[in-house]
Amino acid sequence: MKKILVLISGRGSNLAALLEAVDKNEIAGRIVHVISNRADAGGLNFARERGIPTTIIPSKDFNDREAFDMALGDAIAKEQPDLIVLAGFMRILGEKINARFAGKIINIHPALLPSYPGLHTHRRALDDGVKWHGCTVHFVTLKVDIGPIIGQAVVPVLPDDDEGALAARVLESEHRLLVDCVRWFCEDRLTVRDNKVILHDEVGSACAQQHPQG
Ligand code: GRF
Repeated sequence: MKKILVLISGRGSNLAALLEAVDKNEIAGRIVHVISNRADAGGLNFARERGIPTTIIPSKDFNDREAFDMALGDAIAKEQPDLIVLAGFMRILGEKINARFAGKIINIHPALLPSYPGLHTHRRALDDGVKWHGCTVHFVTLKVDIGPIIGQAVVPVLPDDDEGALAARVLESEHRLLVDCVRWFCEDRLTVRDNKVILHDEVGSACAQQHPQG
């Protein structure tokens, strides 16, 4: 069983999806700790309800990023997790903390990377008139929203979509994709070669990612 630690900043619906999957034994791991950089992150309650330890490290109390990263890194290190999931964690991690947990940090981003890194992805996709949008789970590297891509899920952009409607459709796909990617990680089915992630099937052959199903 892999030890999973989740970092959040807000609502925590992706955390909730992971917790439900763990509850149903869909993931060969358990969530050992949830850390938030905001005391008011609603998602903390999903962990508290299950008696999972939570820690708040308020980023606003730190003058510089390195000091925050150091405190965060120390809190993470105490659990010695196998996997750290950034699930709506709205802080950029610096060089040292990345190096400390290299290859163990994954992030969910609400766009089909490398399109639309950064913020306001749904608004930008609507402005551009793209017909397909979606989400990406990737290993975290030093460059923001760039890193070996583990999985992607695609959703249509519909003619009457506004930002809220599109965000809701993408979010549903995020929940399924994140569970799939965490499951693969916990089953040791991911390897990274030349900056690309290879997904292996049960007998170890490279295989294509199936589109996550609801
Ligand atoms: C998600 O859209 C995630 O991709 C982005 O922030 C949002 C977090 O949502 N990074 P939630 O807190 O998991 O509900």
